Amino acid sequence: MENFKNYIEKNKNRFLSELFELLRIPSISANSDHDSDTRLTADLINKHLKKLGLDNCEICETEGHPIVYGEKIINQDLPTILVYGHYDVQPVDPIELWNQDPFQPYIKKTEIHPEGAIFARGACDDKGQMFMHIKALEVMLENGDLPCNVKFMIEGEEEVGSDNLELFVKNNKEKLSNDIILVSDTGMISKTIPSITTGLRGISYMEVELTGPNRDLHSGHYGGTVANPINILSQMITSLHDSNNKITIPGFYDNVTEPSEEERKEMASIPFNIDEFKNSIGLDSEYGELGYTTIERQSVRPALDVNGIWGGYTEEGAKTVLPGKASAKISMRLVPGQNWKEINKLFTKHIKDITPNTVSVKVIEHHGGQPYVAPTNTIAYKAASNAYEDVFDLKPIPTRDGGSIPIIALFEKELESKTILMGFGLDSDAIHSPNEHYGVSNFLLGIETISNFYHHFTKLSND
Ligand code: BES
Ligand code: MN
Ligand code: MN
Repeated sequence: MENFKNYIEKNKNRFLSELFELLRIPSISANSDHDSDTRLTADLINKHLKKLGLDNCEICETEGHPIVYGEKIINQDLPTILVYGHYDVQPVDPIELWNQDPFQPYIKKTEIHPEGAIFARGACDDKGQMFMHIKALEVMLENGDLPCNVKFMIEGEEEVGSDNLELFVKNNKEKLSNDIILVSDTGMISKTIPSITTGLRGISYMEVELTGPNRDLHSGHYGGTVANPINILSQMITSLHDSNNKITIPGFYDNVTEPSEEERKEMASIPFNIDEFKNSIGLDSEYGELGYTTIERQSVRPALDVNGIWGGYTEEGAKTVLPGKASAKISMRLVPGQNWKEINKLFTKHIKDITPNTVSVKVIEHHGGQPYVAPTNTIAYKAASNAYEDVFDLKPIPTRDGGSIPIIALFEKELESKTILMGFGLDSDAIHSPNEHYGVSNFLLGIETISNFYHHFTKLSND
């Protein structure tokens, strides 16, 4: 669709400066110091939707960060696309590893993005990708070419578990009714190889706190006579994997759906270079569960990782102390067959079982979510595939991703609709890391691909 391409080319500088404005607001959902920033971000998105002439634009209050909503219903008989995205971002720490202020966006060329990449927290995850949808809508409207109905729902708590969105969805099923949910919050294989994400892992996020003595002790006077909670916690964590890197929690794998031979063959044919993978993150050797490839470990196999561990003295210099407490935050990535609530129970029971009686234990449940698998024999998949092919001259490859967007499985349950995951990020974009960035061309081609998707989807729906 030539007119879309031309419009994007003519307006790209404005698109980028509008995105920069969004990126300048530090909408970190995890940190309540930034509550006024999440609100400012919601206001700004609301302004964009209003300016495009969407109807029923509102900022929906929640117990937490607000949800931005707007819709354009042009004809009840036409299909309706519900766009979902998130405007909240991850915290920036460790701040000292950023080359510049994470909230002062700038464009710099990189090896992978010779045309330039936008550097800022949220550039890719997910402000940049979410904003592509707002601009795609502008492209269609300004060209008098919006082919179907559209609803926008942009939340501010994805990075902290989407608890309030869950309630909102349950309470607004009619308002959110749709034929397909469209999301850009995942990645593609490489700059020139498009892919459609057909699966996301679920998640169970837990915290373990061990308490030993009733106060921090002198590690000389007491060392060797009192169980050190950090030592004990380390032993417990180590025991959660066996020598084949399998997770040792009893029952953990009981309901895991094994990939079929067919699926394994398909995964093996995905363009993936293990050396590039290792080099890109500065590692010499691969790691993981025995009997599976890296792609399988990353997508169809569960994983357990400590996200943070603390206790005792971590400041400058040395302080001799035998700490009274030790804690760890542990996430488990889940695959089809596993239920996060069930996994929470198995985890909690196992942790309690392996805690020696020299310390006491508290297990805290954070958020969780179910895995999602998307079918490929649908109109939405075909439409997305055609849209990518128009823009990238290549048929996209279906891939299952290792990350989680828990609300997607909930959409399926509550709204009874499928989601099509059209992500344009790259693994090298460093989401959640220092110097997160997003390729300018990924951003612009994404806008074009999304605009084309609306047309293919409407056309195939009418056939
Ligand atoms: N956009 C990511 C999820 C993602 C990243 C999916 C890369 C596929 C590939 C999302 O913002 C995210 O970070 N989700 C969290 C889960 C949430 C419950 C905190 C995650 O996966 O850690
Ligand atoms: Mn995201
Ligand atoms: Mn994220």
